[in-house]
Amino acid sequence: MPVTIATPALPDEAPEHYLARLGTVFARFDRQDSGNVSYGVVVDGERHFVKTAGHPDHAPFLDHAQRVGLLRNAVRLARAYRHPALPALHTVVESAHGPMLVYDWADGELVGVPREQRDDPASAYHRFRSLPADRVLAVLDTVFDVHDLLGRNGEVAGDFYDGCLIYDFTTRDVAVIDLDTYRPGPYRNDMGRMFGSSRFMAPEEFTLGALIDQRTSVFTMGRTARVFLGDHLPGPLNGVVTRACRPDPADRHASLPEFCAAWHDARSHLG
Ligand SMILES: Nc1ncnc2c1ncn2[C@@H]1O[C@H](COP(=O)(O)OP(=O)(O)OP(=O)(O)O)[C@@H](O)[C@H]1O
Ligand SMILES: [Mg+2]
Repeated sequence: MPVTIATPALPDEAPEHYLARLGTVFARFDRQDSGNVSYGVVVDGERHFVKTAGHPDHAPFLDHAQRVGLLRNAVRLARAYRHPALPALHTVVESAHGPMLVYDWADGELVGVPREQRDDPASAYHRFRSLPADRVLAVLDTVFDVHDLLGRNGEVAGDFYDGCLIYDFTTRDVAVIDLDTYRPGPYRNDMGRMFGSSRFMAPEEFTLGALIDQRTSVFTMGRTARVFLGDHLPGPLNGVVTRACRPDPADRHASLPEFCAAWHDARSHLG
């Protein structure tokens, strides 16, 4: 049988060894806040993104068991929801360091960059925000379409920010990555300051005990439009985004599908 990326790992085999045995590792992501270690690997001419929880002894913020828990949640999400903008999950291979999630590789550049690079004209963030508004709007349409699907199924976004978007400036395709902390809601904020980038976070994500529901996700979607287009949002869309970003959840759209419907409606009035 040919060796494929679905081949079981050897007993006690670590991801790095397994991947190097099967193919060529061309990228390594080992400085993530999450403590996860991920890889770009080419096997049989196919590129994959392989996400792992990293070494079991490593416990930066979440311990290994918690990181594995989030990866199992990512598997649940990937199996439940298919969308052209979500890199497909091919398989899960168990290793000495827990599950290896094998996704399609997404071409392009991460839109989110470290703060000090945001003003650098060469950065993907700066180039993305400098695109003509209709191209950025097309990306927002896709991001909201993904969240419409998730919202219709009761999921609440977690830790969504510009670092969850990979944009291909040539094909204009966008991929939405890292849904690991999305979960069915509503639920209570049990962290105080939750995971996330404050530019995209709603007030209730900073308040211990506050209710987190899809209105929280609506705020994040609104902020996404605001961060990318600032004051360049055409009138009807500006109204939708202003409502989405209201501090009191009761003043926002009641759910992701409601927000998405309002966005679509305003889009269709742009002409
Ligand atoms: N499907 C993919 N194809 C190509 N690159 C990817 C893919 N998914 C993620 N990446 C790259 O790998 C990096 C890490 O992925 P991801 O954000 O899912 O990991 P994480 O461990 O949750 O990290 P973080 O702490 O930043 O949330 C991303 O910033 C992105 O550059
Ligand atoms: Mg993450």
